[in-house]
Amino acid sequence: MDALFPYPGGKRRLSKLIVKKFMPKHDIYLELFFGSGAVFFRKPRAKVNYINDKSNMITNFFEQIRDNCDEMEWMIISTPYSEQAMRNLLENYDKLDNARKALAFWMLQYSFNSSQPYAQFHDQESAWKSMKLIGMIREARLKLDGVYIVNRDFRDILKKNVFNTSKCWIYADPPYVSDIGYYDGGKFSEQDHKDLANMLSKINALVTISYDDHEFIRDLYKNWYITKIDYKSSMSSHNSKKEYGELIITNFNPVEKCGRTTSAVDYFLSK
Ligand SMILES: C[S@@+](CC[C@H](N)C(=O)[O-])C[C@H]1O[C@@H](n2cnc3c(N)ncnc32)[C@H](O)[C@@H]1O
Repeated sequence: MDALFPYPGGKRRLSKLIVKKFMPKHDIYLELFFGSGAVFFRKPRAKVNYINDKSNMITNFFEQIRDNCDEMEWMIISTPYSEQAMRNLLENYDKLDNARKALAFWMLQYSFNSSQPYAQFHDQESAWKSMKLIGMIREARLKLDGVYIVNRDFRDILKKNVFNTSKCWIYADPPYVSDIGYYDGGKFSEQDHKDLANMLSKINALVTISYDDHEFIRDLYKNWYITKIDYKSSMSSHNSKKEYGELIITNFNPVEKCGRTTSAVDYFLSK
């Protein structure tokens, strides 16, 4: 299934490719920087699944879908879309219970005047009213059943022994090097990028990372397998869709481990 909402740096468009060409066999799945979870929602569930994001808005939203879906549905259906309602919710965010925090987050994803630059490109009214979204929430609830949802910094997660095995596949989609601070956890620093590379290079898990194409990143992962993908980003504005170079970096040979040829990548992208 598709991710539930568009998200800055979200991999909705790239998720099919990642799952088809860069996902090795695994029993344990860890998605380290979850956001909208485009890859998690695209792939089949593993035996054991962990999803993590430092943003509490994100993890609370998915916890509510997993554990409190009926109330979420009821709130979405009974709350007419309104800028004022959304502003009220956001201004009082800290005072809200978790269900209403999730509603506020959900509304923000479909808002027009959101401070988040990507939000203005969506047809918020029709999206909000669409029953398709309710169907998606129900589907997401099934997918999230039994999934561990964690709200930590990536360093805390990577210290856990459970992931230090070749039975585990880690998908990491950190903020881009060129990120200007879209996320509520603040900007991802140069040291963060270095810590991530350092910790991932020591772990026994199979790892797939997606990044913007940047010399700094190519250098950090110079001993890994790097595949460059050119695609048009959904973060660009209405008329000018900009070409982005995205790197898919793996600590295994994707052609051997995922049993596919890279020419299929070109075929996929040409569609
Ligand atoms: C590029 S987005 C992930 C997008 C996601 N793959 C998707 O498809 O929507 C990066 C995510 O990393 C989270 N993040 C930022 N710093 C983090 C940290 N130190 N530890 C864990 N998560 C972090 C942000 O909150 C954001 O949701």
